[in-house]
Amino acid sequence: MPAPAPRVTVPEFAAARSRGDKLAVVTAYDYTSAKLADEAGVDAILVGDSLGMVIQGHATPLPVTLAQMQYHTACVVRGVTRALVVADLPFLSYQVSPRQAVRSAGSMLKVGAAAVKLEGGERIADAIAACVRADIPVMGHVGLTPQSVHRMGGFKVQRDAEQLVKDARAVADAGAFALVVEGVPSDIAAAITAALSIPTIGIGAGPSCDGQVLVYHDLLGLFDGFRPKFVKRYADLGTATRTAIREYADEVRRGAFPAAEHEFR
Ligand code: KIV
Repeated sequence: MPAPAPRVTVPEFAAARSRGDKLAVVTAYDYTSAKLADEAGVDAILVGDSLGMVIQGHATPLPVTLAQMQYHTACVVRGVTRALVVADLPFLSYQVSPRQAVRSAGSMLKVGAAAVKLEGGERIADAIAACVRADIPVMGHVGLTPQSVHRMGGFKVQRDAEQLVKDARAVADAGAFALVVEGVPSDIAAAITAALSIPTIGIGAGPSCDGQVLVYHDLLGLFDGFRPKFVKRYADLGTATRTAIREYADEVRRGAFPAAEHEFR
């Protein structure tokens, strides 16, 4: 029997950047999708608060609670044997104080995550440093940070290069092991990547980042709420799902399902 693939660890992220290997990250929110993503060989699975949109049907991630993130993280952890599991800290679970950040982040490690992600740059550096001091690995997130949707006036591409580089540096200096860069022009993402020694994971940030992350439902064509320019659909499971369920309903109505092979006799 082949030996199980070794677990992806936090230090492996830095090692991948040193080797020049790109990191592939995808979100997942439940056992089955996490297991499929893990079996597909991604490096990390992010339990993103994007679940507020693609699972709960909200317009923003703001309503997502810490208890909901703990529940989804625990579901994901049970489906994963290899990838690094990173859990998002939801809105208002870390902004109040570094102390609150450590408690919220620690609760994610208690349900099995290996690291947490939180949004923000200079303003949130103290919270990141406090988590890192408590041995909680942190992935930062700068640029288009969805929890700041009202300050940004919508989910808008962020273009203040000077502030973005300052924010990225603050996150790295606070001890984050990786940084998500979302919704920024490719040249700014390249400048951020060059300015840091930790790996950058891009989403809508061009090809220069050390890795990429996409939302599971976007990548598989399962979500039609909105479709940002940076999303590439690798499958159309939305159409496949509708077709399969229509066929099932039709067979039930025609009496074609269940057939003899589905019966107990
Ligand atoms: O919540 C999320 O899924 C994210 C990724 C899109 C980076 O933060």
